[in-house]
Amino acid sequence: MNLEQTGILAPLPEQARYLTFELAAPEAVRDSLLALRDIVDGERAVLGIGPSLARALGADIPGLRVLPPQACDGFDIPSTPAALWCWIRGEDRGRIFHYSRSIVEALADAFRLTQSVDGYKYAEGRDLSGYIDGTENPQGDHARTVALADDTVPGLAGSSFVAVQLWEHDFDQLEAYSRVERDDMIGRRYSDNEELDDAPPSAHVKRTAQESFEPEAFMLRRSMPWSEGDAGGFMFVAFGHTLDAFEASLHRMSGAEDGIADGLFRFTRPRTGAYYWCPPIRDGRLDLSLFGL
Ligand code: HEM
Repeated sequence: MNLEQTGILAPLPEQARYLTFELAAPEAVRDSLLALRDIVDGERAVLGIGPSLARALGADIPGLRVLPPQACDGFDIPSTPAALWCWIRGEDRGRIFHYSRSIVEALADAFRLTQSVDGYKYAEGRDLSGYIDGTENPQGDHARTVALADDTVPGLAGSSFVAVQLWEHDFDQLEAYSRVERDDMIGRRYSDNEELDDAPPSAHVKRTAQESFEPEAFMLRRSMPWSEGDAGGFMFVAFGHTLDAFEASLHRMSGAEDGIADGLFRFTRPRTGAYYWCPPIRDGRLDLSLFGL
């Protein structure tokens, strides 16, 4: 029996909205979550619970923690934890808008909306830098094993952990680099998406090569571009049965291991960074039993 929020493994939608909430009135939290449970099914919207909310509900989710911030060589990797995260998925912006309003309303007594960002699919799944994302994502049963927790820990079967970072690109900076320099930053050729044999060690796909970690650091990436006016970038979203693969990869990207920072930092920066736990689905609705709901 499949227990996961189905939006996690499903292909990327055409349109999306990302909502982030803080807890404003703890006394109303249980009623608000019960109202939310009636309208979030894990498919049209994937829900994640942050460490502070789990704590407010008196639950310990093994493996859920706060993303560690890092001060790197000339740039920062911020940690911006939040109580609740919702990834609304769909094909129609109007429907997403109205669904989003109903979620905010269901939560209104206890939660305050702190961020709302619209995302979308660009061409065949490209980042706004032009490069195709997701090529080396695990597929099929492997994707399921990578992204979903099993029943080793009671209550976690079918659940997932997610890392979310809003990256903001500097497009003028990006466009000042030649095509060859950009290919080297990513480690893949823009023209045909082939991996470069001679990519520099700073190339993003060299830094994050999933099989190069011990243990291997596989994650299921489900990121989408975002933009607002002239600002834009990538909403990086990676699901895992734990947060360890993401954390190890980000640590290596930062340059903390060997002084080599990921080529991505030449044109983009993470502005947010948070971890959440995505509860399983039981009998067609979110299973919040670990919180006594
Ligand atoms: C602005 C942010 C980012 C952009 C634009 C980006 C873009 C890309 C692109 C174009 C690829 C190559 C195609 C593919 O296999 O998907 C890739 C691969 C990958 N990225 Fe990122 N990425 C970003 C951030 C991150 C972060 C923060 C992590 C993890 C901490 C990450 C982990 C990976 C992994 C694991 C791969 C596959 C590596 C392999 O070949 O095994 N990415 N990314």
